[in-house]
Amino acid sequence: MSQDALRWGILGAARIARQALIPAIRAAGDEVAVLGSRELSRGVSMAADLAIPEVVEGYQPVLERALDCVYIALPNALHWEWTVAALGQGLHVLCEKPLAMTASQASEMAATARRQRLVLAEAVMYRYHPRWARFLSILESGSLGQLRQLSGTFAFTLRQPPDIRWDPALGGGALFDVGTYLVNAARWINRREPDRVSAVGIFRQGVDETVNLVLNFPDSGQSGPSMAALSCGFASAESQWLRVDGTRGWATLERPFTAWHGDSLPIICDMGSGRVEEIPCPAADPYEAMVRAFGRAVRDGGSTATGADDGAANLAVLDACFRSLNTGQVESVLSLAG
Ligand SMILES: NC(=O)c1ccc[n+]([C@@H]2O[C@H](COP(=O)([O-])OP(=O)(O)OC[C@H]3O[C@@H](n4cnc5c(N)ncnc54)[C@H](OP(=O)(O)O)[C@@H]3O)[C@@H](O)[C@H]2O)c1
Repeated sequence: MSQDALRWGILGAARIARQALIPAIRAAGDEVAVLGSRELSRGVSMAADLAIPEVVEGYQPVLERALDCVYIALPNALHWEWTVAALGQGLHVLCEKPLAMTASQASEMAATARRQRLVLAEAVMYRYHPRWARFLSILESGSLGQLRQLSGTFAFTLRQPPDIRWDPALGGGALFDVGTYLVNAARWINRREPDRVSAVGIFRQGVDETVNLVLNFPDSGQSGPSMAALSCGFASAESQWLRVDGTRGWATLERPFTAWHGDSLPIICDMGSGRVEEIPCPAADPYEAMVRAFGRAVRDGGSTATGADDGAANLAVLDACFRSLNTGQVESVLSLAG
């Protein structure tokens, strides 16, 4: 462990903490100092498996330890409360996606972090995978001509309850679980915000099980595709892809969001020649890259590519998607300033 290794606390013995984030924190050279769990026995069992030196019951005692930062892997409905509590204790926060349940909550979290001069980042790990830099460079190179249309799907079969994603009170549903990635990617590719959205969905057990979205990006002379047609859901076989069509060619990413170490998935494209090309992309661990970027922001007093303001902007679009699901109308994306 290096001298300036960050000391992390973990809130919740969550699957994603166990599988991805705790290994990533260690791979980045930082220290996992303490785990908080509602049930001590759950926490003790995970701490034993992962050699975490201290376990406490509940989350507040974690915030009272001598730490630099916390990772919040709680159900979506608890992100706001525990992020604000951690910032209040002077801790930097890496919080799982979506950052909160509404743009207004996320804006409050962002403002609190700014006031406290602390780093608050949303754990949108896919943005740190190097194949995305390659994909964006193709889109921005002009080889596909003028970009017109973005399409994408993130769907899989979610097993029956109990699972936090089937519980509306905990922030369940497909839009928050996987639709958030599609909206995030459409905004990132466009480097601007959509102004209008339309959503149609199927509800089951009180949550959105399958949702189809159309996002409209205003034409401001920028080059991103002005329309995005996206679908997400819990009710079909695993399907995860993203495609951008231009006036001369197209490019696709298979598994755009969860490619990990071991997955060397190429970008497949036709850059106007009529010939389908495969551009190799080496495997990488986006979680480790995200933790390293977070650590740099903490040490340098900077920010990350997936900061709280971006998380709030993403939620402004999700807010509009939920309104559209309820009204059956096209809905405007409300400005965060207003
Ligand atoms: N970035 C990614 O790749 C990725 C992937 C999957 C999930 N996620 C996000 O990570 C978060 C956790 O997801 P997960 O799949 O890891 O969930 P999970 O395994 O169900 O873990 C959630 C944890 O929250 C705690 N919790 C507190 N109140 C709870 C309640 N009322 N019911 C159930 N659990 C409660 C539990 O920890 P204790 O019992 O130990 O307190 C539980 O282990 C979500 O926000 C999700 O969107 C991100």
